[in-house]
Order: sequence, then structure tokens, then C-alpha cells
Amino acid sequence: MKAQTRLIPSLLAATALSVAAMPAHAEAATDAAVQAQLQDYKATMQAFGKTLKGELQAAMKEGGPMAAVQVCNERAPEIAADLSEESGYTLRRTSLKPRATEPTDWERAVMQEFEARKANGTPVGEIAWHEVTKVDGEKQLRFMKAIATEGVCLTCHGQDVDPKLKAEIDRLYPDDQATGFAEGDIRGAVSISAALKD
Ligand code: HEC
Repeated sequence: MKAQTRLIPSLLAATALSVAAMPAHAEAATDAAVQAQLQDYKATMQAFGKTLKGELQAAMKEGGPMAAVQVCNERAPEIAADLSEESGYTLRRTSLKPRATEPTDWERAVMQEFEARKANGTPVGEIAWHEVTKVDGEKQLRFMKAIATEGVCLTCHGQDVDPKLKAEIDRLYPDDQATGFAEGDIRGAVSISAALKD
């Protein structure tokens, strides 16, 4: 089994790098594997959103935004790390105007394209992207989905964040760029990547 797993990348390399040059059956197999893994990515992403939103809303209700900021500060990266460990995928959130997580070059390019799609009238909720790419000789499936700014987000990401709260955010994130958003803007994106299991 192990030997077989190790064989797969070299087989793929020997076949072809581009999908266009692959035999039809190999292309179909890859496409099915991509679709299956994307479904799994989406489930992981939804689990992340549900857990974080639940904790954020509970903290807001109990202790207001000053308490909720601690949830985002500590729990958002923890939940992402836990889900990444459980699933074997790398899950993170990033933004063109980040608070905590600077995008990589490819994540930045994808999010710039998301802004162009939004400007062309695509609803933010429908904006997503994926690609299969080779990273260090391994086929990887990368996925990103835009995150819309909702009313509740404006407390900490809006145009007039309460000065006391903004001071706390600046203490935690001296390079914060993640304010000035309006409802409906793209706040950032979820990014998930892992080796393609095919
Ligand atoms: C109580 C304050 C607060 C609220 C409300 C809040 N956030 Fe954040 N947000 C933060 C903090 C703090 C971070 C940095 C934590 C991290 O992700 O490591 C953050 C980070 C993020 C990031 C990660 C990218 C980056 O900038 O580093 C995204 C995306 C994001 N928030 C989206 C949202 C959305 C969408 C909402 C509304 C549904 C929301 N936030 C509501 C405080 C808040």
C-alpha cells in the first residue's frame, strides 16, 4: 500500500502535467477526485464557519465586542488549526486588507480576481475558485471562497469602529488593515489546500 502511494506522483509526472494531454479516462478520474475533495473542503469550511460564528455570537451576547474580540483573536486560529489537523487539509482565512493573516502571492492574485468578478456583478456568495497545481512535485488541490461582510462584522471591521475597541484591536494587531468595510464587501476568503487524493 505504501509503495503504491509513493508510485502515484511519479506516475502522474510521467503521464502529463496538463489535463489536456491526459487520456480521457485519466481526466475523468481526476475530475471525479477533484469534485469529491471539493465537497469535503466545503464541509470543512462550513464546520469552521458554524463553530466560529456560534462562539462569536455567544461572546457578543455575554460580554459585548470586547469579549468577542478575544474569541476571534484566540479561537479563530485554534478552530482553523483543529480542523486542519482533523481533516489533513490546510485551512486558513486571509484578506487583501488583513488583520492577522497576510495572503500568499497566489491567494492575493485569486482575491484580486474575486474583486473583479464582484465588480462585474457576480454575487459575493457565488464567488469561489479552485485549481490543481503541482507543488514540490505533488499534485495539490487549492480552493478559495469569498467571505461577504455582513452587518454583524461591522462592529470590528466597519467604517467607524468604537475607539476603545479599535485600541484593543490595534494592541493585538499593530498592522491591522481590516477596517473600513461596508456590508456586502468582500471581507476576505477561506483558503483550503491539500494533496489531491486520486
Ligand atoms: C468582535 C470583533 C470581530 C467581529 C464581530 C468579526 N471579526 Fe473578523 N476578525 C476579528 C479579529 C480579532 C480577527 C483576527 C483573528 C484571526 O483570524 O486570526 C479577524 C479576522 C477575520 C478574517 C481573517 C482575515 C484577516 O483579516 O486576517 C476574516 C476573513 C474575518 N475576520 C471576517 C469576518 C466576518 C465575515 C465577520 C462577520 C460575520 C467578522 N469577521 C466579524 C474580529 C472580529
